Amino acid sequence: MKRYLVTGGAGFIGSHLCEALLAGGNGVYVLDDQSTGHRHNLAHLFGNRELRFIPGSITDAPTLSRLVGTAHHVIHLAAAVGVKYILENPLESILTNVVGTERVLQACREFEKPLFLASTSEVYGLQTHAPLRETDYSVIGATSVSRWSYACSKALDEFMALAFHHQGAFPVTIARFFNTVGPRQSPAYGMVMPRLVDQAIRDQPMTVYGDGTQTRTFTHVADCTAAILGLLAHPEAAGEVYNIGGTQEISILQLANMIKLQAESASEIQLLPYDKVYNSNFEDMPRRVPDISKLRKAIGFTPTMSLERIITDVISDRRAALVA
Ligand SMILES: NC(=O)c1ccc[n+]([C@@H]2O[C@H](COP(=O)([O-])OP(=O)(O)OC[C@H]3O[C@@H](n4cnc5c(N)ncnc54)[C@H](O)[C@@H]3O)[C@@H](O)[C@H]2O)c1
Repeated sequence: MKRYLVTGGAGFIGSHLCEALLAGGNGVYVLDDQSTGHRHNLAHLFGNRELRFIPGSITDAPTLSRLVGTAHHVIHLAAAVGVKYILENPLESILTNVVGTERVLQACREFEKPLFLASTSEVYGLQTHAPLRETDYSVIGATSVSRWSYACSKALDEFMALAFHHQGAFPVTIARFFNTVGPRQSPAYGMVMPRLVDQAIRDQPMTVYGDGTQTRTFTHVADCTAAILGLLAHPEAAGEVYNIGGTQEISILQLANMIKLQAESASEIQLLPYDKVYNSNFEDMPRRVPDISKLRKAIGFTPTMSLERIITDVISDRRAALVA
């Protein structure tokens, strides 16, 4: 039996990944400080004796060392995430994503354990062309615009991890997730789909930031999890960076309309200037679409869930959460 340490395993993506790893007959240790995740995301798995939940932070080097030492493979998902959370906690977010990740990397070096590192499409920054390839440049805004600290901290994580890999310390695989959505994603930290769905279900105004023409793609967490498992099982992925994302590009205004229709909501859709939501110097990416040909070539990945199906799943998850 293989044992995985999943940092951030009580979060949205982490909880789905833990479920899949346990279903595959693996053992799982979860280290999570429950800052944006919660142990209740794993409650349905607590009957499985191969799951161990350890409340704590990735900045706690002795705990990390103990866990990495007994795991076969480390999956590093723990991070400060969500635009709203990053803007409200700028310093803590940078420290979690840089110092925390450095501690995870040092523990992997100590025990020579392979690492899967979660990165983000945010590292492409203000690039406007589509689709975005893994070798494209990062175009990051000014340091006075604090949202870019997330992109920079994740880019630094990638640089550090690849440096360890290239110096032969331990094998590293990096994945850049594009907007991943689905059951158990919290609306509390600035994630657009659960936020719009909650507003639609409550027949409250659905607030679209900016002029709504900014586009994204959305990936169901089940597809994202399948891609992670595929990369974990693919030895040639070591030393590589992969985009993981959906292919259906949609503007946020169109997304709001789809959600309203599917939720049979009476909500009005309202455009809200960014400076009414965040601060006056907030910047957003106009477009973010992944090229997933590298991932497809490596593991034969194609997203299986349509946007309609994704929205249906999020609506039923949020309806259940709002009733509970
Ligand atoms: N969901 C997306 O669309 C998306 C997109 C790009 C990248 N990502 C990346 O995927 C990973 C998982 O994100 P998610 O969407 O599941 O978010 P999430 O907030 O649900 O998961 C992050 C988890 O990390 C935990 N955590 C935070 N700081 C910690 C610390 N110091 N020590 C231990 N645990 C800590 C949180 O409590 C949470 O459970 C993150 O690295 C994120 O940057 C996600």
